[in-house]
Amino acid sequence: MQVITEMESRLILRSAREDATEYLGKILGEHLRSGDVVVLDGDLGAGKTVMTRGIANGMGLHDRVASPTYTIVREYGDESSTKMFHFDVYRLDGEDDFVFSGLDEYFDRNGVCVIEWGLRIASILPAEKLSVLFRGSGDTRDIELIGTERYFELIDLVRTRLSEVSGLEPLL
Ligand SMILES: Nc1ncnc2c1ncn2[C@@H]1O[C@H](COP(=O)(O)OP(=O)(O)OP(=O)(O)O)[C@@H](O)[C@H]1O
Ligand SMILES: [Mg+2]
Repeated sequence: MQVITEMESRLILRSAREDATEYLGKILGEHLRSGDVVVLDGDLGAGKTVMTRGIANGMGLHDRVASPTYTIVREYGDESSTKMFHFDVYRLDGEDDFVFSGLDEYFDRNGVCVIEWGLRIASILPAEKLSVLFRGSGDTRDIELIGTERYFELIDLVRTRLSEVSGLEPLL
């Protein structure tokens, strides 16, 4: 269960289409900074990789983003840009597996960490993070953004930029 405290900012959006979810990712990517951590969670096929593709695009990284399911983490970008570290921890056996594999070291590297199925390693995630939770089926996804203080401004920016894309409506 996700506990909402006053120390978090929250925004729930309804995405009507894949490209709206990708555009939301692009908005995030344009404002993310080195050291940021984005946790994506929701069922299989919820849209986590679609959103990651948008984040990479917004960060100016134009490599094709594919799910890193078998490699756990993939690195995008080089020293000339802010890197994106794209994790898919679905196949990991919880937090211990993550830490024993040395993957927590990525949190201290220069770059943005985007973690699919991140709630599976909830207890070792940095306190400051942007959580993106997907619910829904068919072509509709309710996407909840929950940000700690570091992400308050980013969530406000998302709110002001929603009109840029059709198929993305605020629910709260
Ligand atoms: N509104 C929407 N937003 C995002 N994806 C959508 C939407 N409507 C339909 N889709 C479809 O849902 C699928 C999302 O796939 P994606 O690979 O992003 O899911 P995922 O959450 O990464 O799954 P997995 O847990 O297997 O990695 C795509 O086939 C996409 O076309
Ligand atoms: Mg995926």
